[in-house]
Amino acid sequence: MSAPDPAAAKRVAGYRAAGAVCDGMVVGLGTGSTVFFAMERLGERIAEEGLSIAGVPTSYQAAMRARRYGIPLTGLDEHPELDLAIDGADQVDPRFRLIKGRGAALLREKCVCDAAREVLIVVDPSKMVETLDAGVPVEVLPFAAGTVSRRLEALGADPVLREGVRKDGPVITDNGNFIIDCGFGAITDPSRLEREIISIPGVIECGLFTGYGEKITVILGEEGGFRILS
Ligand code: 5RP
Repeated sequence: MSAPDPAAAKRVAGYRAAGAVCDGMVVGLGTGSTVFFAMERLGERIAEEGLSIAGVPTSYQAAMRARRYGIPLTGLDEHPELDLAIDGADQVDPRFRLIKGRGAALLREKCVCDAAREVLIVVDPSKMVETLDAGVPVEVLPFAAGTVSRRLEALGADPVLREGVRKDGPVITDNGNFIIDCGFGAITDPSRLEREIISIPGVIECGLFTGYGEKITVILGEEGGFRILS
């Protein structure tokens, strides 16, 4: 038996999400390999069917992808309410609480998630967990990175400043901030932890998304098909 192919499952999930987009919609576009498959398919639909949509990208990377696929772009100023958002996740629990931010786009992703009437989370099976336990990315003001780290330690984390691939300096987000990755082990009360983290002065946002379960539908791609969880 061959090993599961996460890219195949991601493509299935992304393509299925792109199929849910209707003419005239304004769509939040997340960041990451799974949602980029959705953007690829949206580009095909624009070219083949004349689908007319506008996308709100959550990062410069997402904006560049969207342009490459021919998706017209707009922003939250023009469209403070979005018909739909499509995004990936690093972990999803049974109540559709999420950990996001491995791609360092969590701040704009949360703004877009908040602005959307409906949110499609596109994932492969490795993302589904009973209890959130992945590292939580925290976007912090560089000026306060030291004090924020101490406060995160007091909450039980082992904070690590995220560095670039060459390890010669911190990752800088699209908003000019740093990312601190925080292992907490199994997170028994994600909502409380989210509130505690974002109340620290100097924290801009964190990658726990716990308040959006009602409007989230998960599209779980598998190699041979997909499942819709809502
Ligand atoms: C970026 C994110 C991504 O959605 C998350 O990391 C999932 O990425 P991928 O689809 O590549 O597995 O939160 O900030």
